[in-house]
Amino acid sequence: MRVVSGIQPTGNLHLGNYLGAIRNWVAMQDALEDGAEALFFLADLHALSQPHDPAVLTAATLEMTAALVACGIDPDRSVLFNQAQVPLHAELQWLLNGTARMGWLGRMTQWKDKAGKNREGQSVALFTYPVLQAADVLLYQATHVPVGEDQKQHLELARDIAQKFNNDFCTEDAPVFTLPEPIIPAEAARIMSLRDGSAKMSKSDPSDMSRINLADDADTMAQKIRKARTDPEPLPSEEAGLAERPEARNLVGIYAALSGESVAGVLRQFGGQGFGSFKPALAELLVETLGPIRARFVELKEDRETLDAILARGAAKARERGAPTLAAAYRALGLVRH
Ligand code: TYM
Repeated sequence: MRVVSGIQPTGNLHLGNYLGAIRNWVAMQDALEDGAEALFFLADLHALSQPHDPAVLTAATLEMTAALVACGIDPDRSVLFNQAQVPLHAELQWLLNGTARMGWLGRMTQWKDKAGKNREGQSVALFTYPVLQAADVLLYQATHVPVGEDQKQHLELARDIAQKFNNDFCTEDAPVFTLPEPIIPAEAARIMSLRDGSAKMSKSDPSDMSRINLADDADTMAQKIRKARTDPEPLPSEEAGLAERPEARNLVGIYAALSGESVAGVLRQFGGQGFGSFKPALAELLVETLGPIRARFVELKEDRETLDAILARGAAKARERGAPTLAAAYRALGLVRH
């Protein structure tokens, strides 16, 4: 078993990242048996697909490293690194560019959403982004990739690329790549914006009130929950009653994910009550869960020396782990290297 996943170091870690992915990273790291390994990385190369400020990227990469460690990623047990220090990712992406098809990339919903009507004006990196993501996981023979729902399509593409490469360039008994399996949490696959129940919680939303950031203090978190958009109805007692109420469903989903209860269980407790009593309970649970993580984060993010050392050590291990697969891919393609 090999667990691999990444996160873009753009802005702060938010509740969607935490509940949708990072909490699962930590759980999988903690459950690994002897011989299995987890690799987690900052997808800083992916950040180049959109306009960015170099100084902000540097700071965000270090901050996100601090956030992951604060959430429970242990650099002594997992390999924690940033892509830019492991050139094998970019190398493998180039090798896979020969296998990935334009049509496959053109169907990616993230590409369609982000490019909108202005496809001609986008960077080439935004279009080929999912090939780099495929390289990220295939390089390490990932078997399990913990992600939120929005990354499922990219993982399916990685499987398609792996399969085509194995078919085209390998014998059946010696495939170069393992097909990765996405691992998506049931209760928190898609945490939505606090301002709009039909949009996912995201770093790129211009309104900070739309998301809970790990760096928010307790008062800010409570205020964001208090101001979260809702409807005037009390909570239903059954899940079916949430069907047409995306904002209510989102808040109940967040409560369920934080408490470890099912949505049905939360509704058994709060059904019939209004948001006036539910929101404070949710805010309290949120502060209780994220408070200790935030405290560790605030302390570690100022410690540049420790963060640099963590990333350097992780990158050295990652280069070692990825080298055999990259060499096998070069060989399979008939590229001469000595
Ligand atoms: P990114 O940086 O947007 O998000 C990191 C992780 O958080 C999850 N996530 C969410 N889950 C639930 N609800 C939300 N509102 C929400 N927002 C984000 C994402 O699904 C993701 O798991 N392309 C990736 C980074 C990446 C990657 C990889 C992931 C690069 N290479 C290889 C896995 C494997 C991204 O931009 O995630």
